[in-house]
Amino acid sequence: MPSETVLITGASSGIGLELAKLFAADKSNLILVARSQDKLDQLATELHGEHGVRVRVLTKDLADPQSPQAVFDALAAESVTVDVLVNNAGFGAGGSVADLPLGRQVDMIQVNVAALTHLTRLFLPGMIQRRSGGILNVASVAAFQPGPYMAVYYATKAYVLSFTEALAEEVIGTGVRVTCFAPGLTATGFAAVADVQRQLLSRLWTADAKTVARAGYRGFGRGRLLVIPGLRNKLGAVTVRFTPRLLVRKVIKRLQTYTTPKGEFDKAIAAYTEAIRLDPKCAEAYWGRGWTYEKKGDYDQAIADFSEVIRLSPRLSEAYCDRGIVYGKKGSFDEAIADFTEAIRLAPQYTETYGGQGSAYGQKGDLGTAIADFTDAIRLNPKLAEAYYNRGLAYQKMGDTAKAESDFAQANTRLHESPLPPRT
Ligand SMILES: NC(=O)c1ccc[n+]([C@@H]2O[C@H](COP(=O)([O-])OP(=O)(O)OC[C@H]3O[C@@H](n4cnc5c(N)ncnc54)[C@H](OP(=O)(O)O)[C@@H]3O)[C@@H](O)[C@H]2O)c1
Repeated sequence: MPSETVLITGASSGIGLELAKLFAADKSNLILVARSQDKLDQLATELHGEHGVRVRVLTKDLADPQSPQAVFDALAAESVTVDVLVNNAGFGAGGSVADLPLGRQVDMIQVNVAALTHLTRLFLPGMIQRRSGGILNVASVAAFQPGPYMAVYYATKAYVLSFTEALAEEVIGTGVRVTCFAPGLTATGFAAVADVQRQLLSRLWTADAKTVARAGYRGFGRGRLLVIPGLRNKLGAVTVRFTPRLLVRKVIKRLQTYTTPKGEFDKAIAAYTEAIRLDPKCAEAYWGRGWTYEKKGDYDQAIADFSEVIRLSPRLSEAYCDRGIVYGKKGSFDEAIADFTEAIRLAPQYTETYGGQGSAYGQKGDLGTAIADFTDAIRLNPKLAEAYYNRGLAYQKMGDTAKAESDFAQANTRLHESPLPPRT
């Protein structure tokens, strides 16, 4: 797409930043929009330097209803044509509708829904007139179901999905292409902004922003209407259509709560058990109950539930990985390694599985293989602090202090760049 001009909202971090890099690498000129001027300026300098493309920065708060028009007017004043609009800016907020501050919820609707619609309405007519261009709207897998305790966020993303699907139908034959991009959990600043308390384990399922952005970019380039990166996310989006709505709500409520307060494990287990009674084929319910059993420390029950998930979805790498983690906690390292090996076979791109396998080998005393696994994890995701840290521990055990210290230093730097979510 050479010499196109692409406007990306929310380009200062995460998925938007990675999308900006991809467009720049393909020689698109860019307009970067977000609130953090310093980050946008730094990215603009970097992308101009690396790819020679023209990069404009527009520092705007999209929670302000005037911002979309201000963006449009600023570009019109310079006679800049926007060929591609990427509506990526967005944020979530974890908590109940009754508790979350009203302003935050309204701002979320403004940024995720109103600004996206407003910018689309402003830039689309020009694209239709020129009979070229495209719009890439970033939704989420949250779009496919209601999300208790993150109700507004899920609803905003359902809007993005519905709006974009409808829009795609309207623009057929105009030369404009429209894509809805629906990623699953991605390691970005999102979780911290949303203040969703997640355990370290939940972080295992996050994809990295680069991989996610690449999937969206590729899907948009191919003119696909809906892009859901990752097999598990695709499966989730499909399963939810065939699962009773009541059940979906209950399961999401549990998953969205993330942490079950101590002493409430039995309540959560009872809720999942009821969900399983209603639909014995609901893999998510077994999965949720397995996690709860794991947190409760009941590893045998957790293994039984993860085994059921595997029986229902034998190609789900994550389920093997989850069971492997519990086997590891139980001290059954051979079973853990077998599960991680299967998880890697099914999805060799998941960094964290190598980390899990490395830990199991490390516990077994096979430090050489552990180091090789952690090295694979780092190769796939050089930002993964845990992998450096664990490799450092393995080197330390081997007596290689220099390598251990170098890895600990790397882990510290990575942790500083992308702090782990709070542990509960
Ligand atoms: N991470 C996930 O798990 C996940 C999963 C599915 C979908 N998504 C969606 O992906 C999109 C990008 O999120 P991310 O994960 O990359 O999170 P992120 O790292 O927090 O990035 C969010 C971006 O949106 C911008 N933004 C937020 N509020 C804004 C405002 N009021 N005005 C202007 N810009 C604003 C932020 O810039 P400033 O702070 O500089 O303004 C930042 O550039 C969002 O629409 C999100 O809903 C994320």
